Amino acid sequence: MTYAAITGWGKCMPPAILDNAGLATFLDTTDDWITSRTGIRERRISHVPMTVLSHIAAARALACAGLDPADVDLIVLGTVSADEHVPNTASAVQILLGANNAAAMDINTACTSFLYGLTSASAMVRTGVVRNAVVIGVEGISPYMDWSNRNVAVLFGDGAAAVVIQASDKPEGVIAEKLGCYADARHTLRVRGMGAAWCNHDLQLGDTRWDFDGQEIFKRAVVGMSDASESALQRAGVETSQVDLVIPHQANLRIIEAVAKRAGLPMDRVFVTVQRYGNMSSATVPVALVEAIEEGRVKPGSLLLTPAFGAGLTWCAHVIRW
Ligand code: ACO
Repeated sequence: MTYAAITGWGKCMPPAILDNAGLATFLDTTDDWITSRTGIRERRISHVPMTVLSHIAAARALACAGLDPADVDLIVLGTVSADEHVPNTASAVQILLGANNAAAMDINTACTSFLYGLTSASAMVRTGVVRNAVVIGVEGISPYMDWSNRNVAVLFGDGAAAVVIQASDKPEGVIAEKLGCYADARHTLRVRGMGAAWCNHDLQLGDTRWDFDGQEIFKRAVVGMSDASESALQRAGVETSQVDLVIPHQANLRIIEAVAKRAGLPMDRVFVTVQRYGNMSSATVPVALVEAIEEGRVKPGSLLLTPAFGAGLTWCAHVIRW
């Protein structure tokens, strides 16, 4: 039996910090409102293309795994904010890495893109289609943000992280997952101005309009992440009490706390970065994973749970044996 181990990891966070006080200089908002409703204190803003953030994160992950870029068979890049839609961003990363033997694909399931990519790459490794894969979660939301809309401008941030997946004969890596989508709620989060549907609407890059029903997303997110976690744990044949660390999608501290409460998991077993980075969409879970490893919270044998949701409304949870 072949498994798909996570053997390398790396992140690339833009150095520029925009804190809540900075937002309050041009938006009608306060640090107190943002912190009490979301837990977010500051976020990063990228001034370089997503290809650059992705390349640095992936190169760090490959160095961590000790894997030569020439031995990478597959690059999967999860994002909603690709530098270009044609050609894809994964192919640009392939060139920068020198991973000349790799297939390269982008995935967009919004904030769950990295995890859907992790499922795709792990399945290909387990079935022998590829032996070595790089999975990237990268997001540069800031160029698409409607900076006059306080409902959404306070929530998001930019960043990237990547992992290396390699064939292994030990039972490790993703051991079970559950993926789904509440398509009936797909318009609760929609960015008008991103995509060909808006070509005749006189909207330019940087001239986006965000349709956003925060309260509906909140409710669906808690139910979707909780149900996905329960199903994934059941498929893995493990109890919630056996989970060592939850690394959830980081959209809002209150959503994370509600999911933990429903699962009966104390917050000291939940890894939270949202206060420092805001919602980095597909980059939140891989960045949090890298930081949890760096802080010694993930050890050999640890059981991880990664519930997430995104526009669509896509949702999922993965059970990972480290
Ligand atoms: N600063 C100050 N006031 C604000 C701000 C702001 N940044 N944003 C909204 N308000 C005001 C509103 O205008 C409203 O004022 P009103 O009562 O005079 O009309 C008031 O605050 C309350 O607004 P609500 O939308 O009811 O605030 P709510 O308590 O629902 O919190 C929030 C909003 C934080 C967005 C919440 O709905 C939420 O957490 N939703 C989850 C969605 C989420 O986090 N999505 C992340 C991205 S989606 C994803 O990851 C897939």
